Amino acid sequence: MSKQPLVRRIVIAFTLMTLVVSGGFSLGIVAIVHFIEEHLVSQEMNEELDSILQKDIAHGLAPRLDLKTRLFASHMPGYEIPKNFIGLDEGFNEVVTDTEAYYVYIRDLPQQRYLLVQEQAEFEARENALFATVFAGFLLSGLAAWLLGWLMARTIIAPLVRLAQQVRHRDQLLTLAPNLAPDYPADEVGHLAAAFDETLGQLRNSLERERFFTSDVSHELRTPLMVIASSAELLETAALDERGSSQVNRIQRATAEISELVETFLLLARANSQSNPLSGHGTLEQVAQEQTERWAPRFSEQGLAFQLIVEENNTALLHSGLLSTVMSNLLRNALHYTASGEVRLLLTASGFRVEDTGQGVSSEQQDNIFKPFVRGPEARGEGLGLGLSLVKRICAHQRWQVRMYSLPTAGSCFEVTLV
Ligand SMILES: Nc1ncnc2c1ncn2[C@@H]1O[C@H](COP(=O)(O)OP(=O)(O)OP(=O)(O)O)[C@@H](O)[C@H]1O
Ligand SMILES: [Mg+2]
Repeated sequence: MSKQPLVRRIVIAFTLMTLVVSGGFSLGIVAIVHFIEEHLVSQEMNEELDSILQKDIAHGLAPRLDLKTRLFASHMPGYEIPKNFIGLDEGFNEVVTDTEAYYVYIRDLPQQRYLLVQEQAEFEARENALFATVFAGFLLSGLAAWLLGWLMARTIIAPLVRLAQQVRHRDQLLTLAPNLAPDYPADEVGHLAAAFDETLGQLRNSLERERFFTSDVSHELRTPLMVIASSAELLETAALDERGSSQVNRIQRATAEISELVETFLLLARANSQSNPLSGHGTLEQVAQEQTERWAPRFSEQGLAFQLIVEENNTALLHSGLLSTVMSNLLRNALHYTASGEVRLLLTASGFRVEDTGQGVSSEQQDNIFKPFVRGPEARGEGLGLGLSLVKRICAHQRWQVRMYSLPTAGSCFEVTLV
């Protein structure tokens, strides 16, 4: 019952209640008719038998009876008890066969039995008609209750249905849709709508705060970054030895990377789920070259072989900032989670793959690692478990696809499809 839709539950309850009440009434009517019949008729027949015994039989006269009544006695010739009335109890009896119906009133005196029999087919027919009417009334009241219950249930829960629909169809849930509560009276449904509005408001606020935080941080980082970049530029022009100028070069490259990241985060913070993918002017190969220059030294520092393999050419123009972030996160993970062997970056016509010979990810973990703050059991270093979730979000925004699968060699492969 508790799994049924609300309307059906109300209808079932309503109908059941009506059936119980009208069933009780119908049974009551039948019982009262029976009781009155037995009581009145037996009283009347008792008096009639008294009068026959005292006024007629006691004086040796033939009993005086009306057309519908007959007398039988155990010891009077000509008044023998018929077979179908033998064996009844003393007092009031009803004998009903298919074609006939009688009231039989019996009195037992010492050694004598008297039966007064009254034909009652007409009354029985009326009684049956009454019972049929009562039964029809019972069925009809059940039907009416079902219909009425259905109409009432629909009317009563109409606001609830409307609210459920509005809540379900709030695709623009987190954008500025108007509040629901003013549409409803201040009853339970109104309270529900108000509670929903409030929760949604809180959710909107916290999302807003998060967005502002990201954009504020990104925004505020720009100024110090510009200072670092211009200072590094100034240093470059100063007379430096070889070691000094290579350090300045590194600072400049890192600053450029951070600036690019800051731009990426700003873009992502401004974008919402409906906004279009950001277009760009870099190719996959250019970005892969840059990332190789950046990561190859670190792989060799760790004693890992690194290869960039161009399997097929891809000339599509892509947003290089976002693509760099995706690629560098995957390369950083490959570096972190591979103890020995090699890491390969493969470029194809549809995108790229990062393959490693590391420890891999267990199949039950594979769905989870893309969620924020999820790290595997073999997490290393100071990561937060945000890398892959950022990759996933960037890919979702750019309509790219990222998936991970295990390689037969126990390593893992992260594949990004760019078209
Ligand atoms: N190439 C890989 N080989 C094996 N496990 C991996 C690989 N890449 C990711 N993982 C597993 O997925 C988890 C989540 O990765 P993710 O990049 O999201 O976070 P993280 O690397 O732990 O931290 P962060 O990237 O925030 O510094 C990792 O903790 C690790 O267990
Ligand atoms: Mg990571």
